[in-house]
Amino acid sequence: MTGFKDGFLWGGAVAAHQLEGGWNTDGKGVSIADVMTAGDNETAREITDGIIPGKNYPNHEAIDFYGHYREDVKMFAELGLKCFRTSIAWTRIFPNGDETEPNEAGLKFYDDLFDELHKYNIKPVITLSHFEMPYHLVQEYGGWRSRKLIDFFTKFATVVFKRYKNKVKYWMTFNEINNQTGLNEWGLFTDSGILVQPGEDAEEVMYQAGHYESVASALAVQIGHEINPDFQIGCMLAMGPTYPATPDPKDVMKAERAMQASYWFADVQCKGKYPNWLKNYFNNKKFDLDITLEDLDVIKAGTVDYIGFSYYASHVIKADENEPVDYMTPMKNHEVKNPALVRSDWGWEIDPIGLRYAMNWFSDRYDLPLFIVENGLGAFDKKDTDGMIHDDYRIDYLRKHINQMKLAVEYDGVDLMGYTPWGFIDLVSAGTGQMDKRYGMIYVDKNDAGEGTLARGKKDSFNWFHKVIETNGADLS
Ligand code: BG6
Repeated sequence: MTGFKDGFLWGGAVAAHQLEGGWNTDGKGVSIADVMTAGDNETAREITDGIIPGKNYPNHEAIDFYGHYREDVKMFAELGLKCFRTSIAWTRIFPNGDETEPNEAGLKFYDDLFDELHKYNIKPVITLSHFEMPYHLVQEYGGWRSRKLIDFFTKFATVVFKRYKNKVKYWMTFNEINNQTGLNEWGLFTDSGILVQPGEDAEEVMYQAGHYESVASALAVQIGHEINPDFQIGCMLAMGPTYPATPDPKDVMKAERAMQASYWFADVQCKGKYPNWLKNYFNNKKFDLDITLEDLDVIKAGTVDYIGFSYYASHVIKADENEPVDYMTPMKNHEVKNPALVRSDWGWEIDPIGLRYAMNWFSDRYDLPLFIVENGLGAFDKKDTDGMIHDDYRIDYLRKHINQMKLAVEYDGVDLMGYTPWGFIDLVSAGTGQMDKRYGMIYVDKNDAGEGTLARGKKDSFNWFHKVIETNGADLS
């Protein structure tokens, strides 16, 4: 017996652009993920001006789930998954984003995928926008800089809500919507399709885009509930708690502001309103933001049913000697290493207790069900002499996190819907575009150079996670 409820959604998570491939198949349009090259630990991904022949675009083929989904879903069933989190590629449905009619071949692909999942009693959990959007919307409208995007997005949402209203119950609007907090620091498109230009105030651009996305998300929640009142529609936030470097109140305040600066999105999506500190901040900074009273009503009426979130690592922050009163100096340059934690090969601080902390933090603040829709370890996997991958390091990471998740449920009374480890089948990394940054329990034979047979195989973590699911989390040995 564990505290996990009956019907707990044990699953696995992926995103369309990171595994499907088939980037220009059956009428699909070019997405922002299609113009991003491969990078690595030291080299940032390049965002090219359109598709340039000869460059390596890892998302074009990815792991060709588009061509392999039937055999893959069969393996997911063998793993014992109760649910499968993926996204719908906007560009399969509206290749340019501003058409009047959707692309039937794209809609059919997801019909077939969902039918295949249901054949094995695997519930689809669907993100509407996961770090991709039609590239045309970026070129023509400047991505989420434009209010017009609200209409394009809600149209896309309406079409897929209607089409799959009897096939999909669990939805999320924007993946890691708060990842834009560091819009000027990432150098990637994330959900916004925006690259900050020299001379622009990155913060102002981000708040405007974040506002339009928040309105679009709230509208989608309302539209979805009208189409099917049984829909469960969540937000999706990147959760990486920020701790103060010392007990010095300056560090504590700095950490608090870092949390506020990232989780105002949660306030808007879960409470239906902007937090006071941020309203004052907008005024003090004299930002010229297009936020109407009507928008605020929409936000109020479109709060989410649950909080979906990713959790990989935590952060530590140190204040400046002379910290400005608003505490909003760029967060990134103030991060320090946590001496209590070890790091992954990509420098991510591994902090299982931070997951319990995060669950408590969300639960106390918003009193909504939680769904951990991403968690996992990106690692270099090596085949052993027996040709197998013995990924005990991955099992160890997942075991420790599931243990803390259990404590949050059993001791802290957190209402948890499910747990879907990220990239449970190897796929293209969003941050680096690598294949060799692997999270999977299912190995896919493809490397950073794009070579490989695409053959699938089980790692040790496959059998381990199968047992975890079978025992509803009782047996983590
Ligand atoms: C989250 C994203 O940020 O983390 C995923 O929702 C991403 O798309 C995952 O893949 C892991 O990050 P990365 O950079 O290791 O792929």
